[in-house]
Amino acid sequence: MKRILSGIQPTGIIHLGNYFGAIHNWLALQKKFDCVFFIADLHALTVYQKPEELRRNTLNLLKIYLASGLNPDKHIIFRQSDVQEHIELGWILNCVTPIAELERMTQFKDKSKQHKENINAGLFTYPCLMAADILLYDTDFVPVGEDQVQHVELTRAIAQKFNNLYADILKLPQAKINKISARLKGLDNPEKKMSKSAASEYNYIALTDSADLIRKKIKKAVTDSGSEIKYGADRPAISNLMTIYSLTTGLDFSQIEKKFNGKGYADFKSDLAEQIVKFTQPIQKKFQAVSDDQAEKILSDGAERARKIAGQKMEQIKDAVGL
Ligand code: TYM
Repeated sequence: MKRILSGIQPTGIIHLGNYFGAIHNWLALQKKFDCVFFIADLHALTVYQKPEELRRNTLNLLKIYLASGLNPDKHIIFRQSDVQEHIELGWILNCVTPIAELERMTQFKDKSKQHKENINAGLFTYPCLMAADILLYDTDFVPVGEDQVQHVELTRAIAQKFNNLYADILKLPQAKINKISARLKGLDNPEKKMSKSAASEYNYIALTDSADLIRKKIKKAVTDSGSEIKYGADRPAISNLMTIYSLTTGLDFSQIEKKFNGKGYADFKSDLAEQIVKFTQPIQKKFQAVSDDQAEKILSDGAERARKIAGQKMEQIKDAVGL
């Protein structure tokens, strides 16, 4: 069976972009593939995290995985820092990755603008650790949002370089994106992606937002000029809101246009808010029902299973490299 692998950083809230760009697609894929899902806590360190918050956010993210429907009985779900092979392979890949390739990475450029006071080496070599995450598990497909595709492509290039230098043992992975949800935009700025690190919380809807906050945020979301509920490249704001409507209800754009024919933004927005509330409430209920102890237990079982695969692969890699 082909294997998929993906992860999310535990850096605070999980928004609808993370959910639909990543988790929602994983749910469908877990029926057909052998899956490895993890919490990228080592990656989170590239931006300073308060230790207690990082621990809390890690457990909360696991709870979101479970509440969304990821299945830890069937698939491997673990915390990155529990499997030391990630760091080990990350270092080896640092030594085969050209600096020029890392300098091209959009995420590095964006984050170093955003965190001018902390442009650390980890932020720069982040894609080598991400490549290690993927390559340790002989991954076939990496389901991610559009912003991570560049990193998956670099992973292929790094694997190819390693294979040429040492031995043909690293599998070349492919990014897998869902075209509709690959890039949800900010509610306050539909030109840019919805982002956890946005300056205003009106940029995103978090999966854990209360019903009232969701209503408030949708009410405030920017709209285009005009008043029709119509999808189009020249109407980025309403198109983004219609995308969210489509993802939460399963209706396609023409069905949504028909439903709101003759109605204006206010009607559409208030219905959209209710659809999001309806979608997120069951996830929130399940989230509340998972205890910290249950979450810890799932993480430690998952780490044990992950270590078996990663440990074997690492032995092969060390042997090839001469360590
Ligand atoms: P992270 O934590 O920034 O984001 C998690 C997932 O959410 C997707 N995403 C979006 N999708 C659609 N619209 C958006 N506005 C949006 N914002 C974020 C991301 O593409 C991602 O799929 N480097 C990764 C974590 C990682 C990883 C890995 C992923 C570390 N190692 C190995 C896959 C495989 C990251 O920072 O994701």
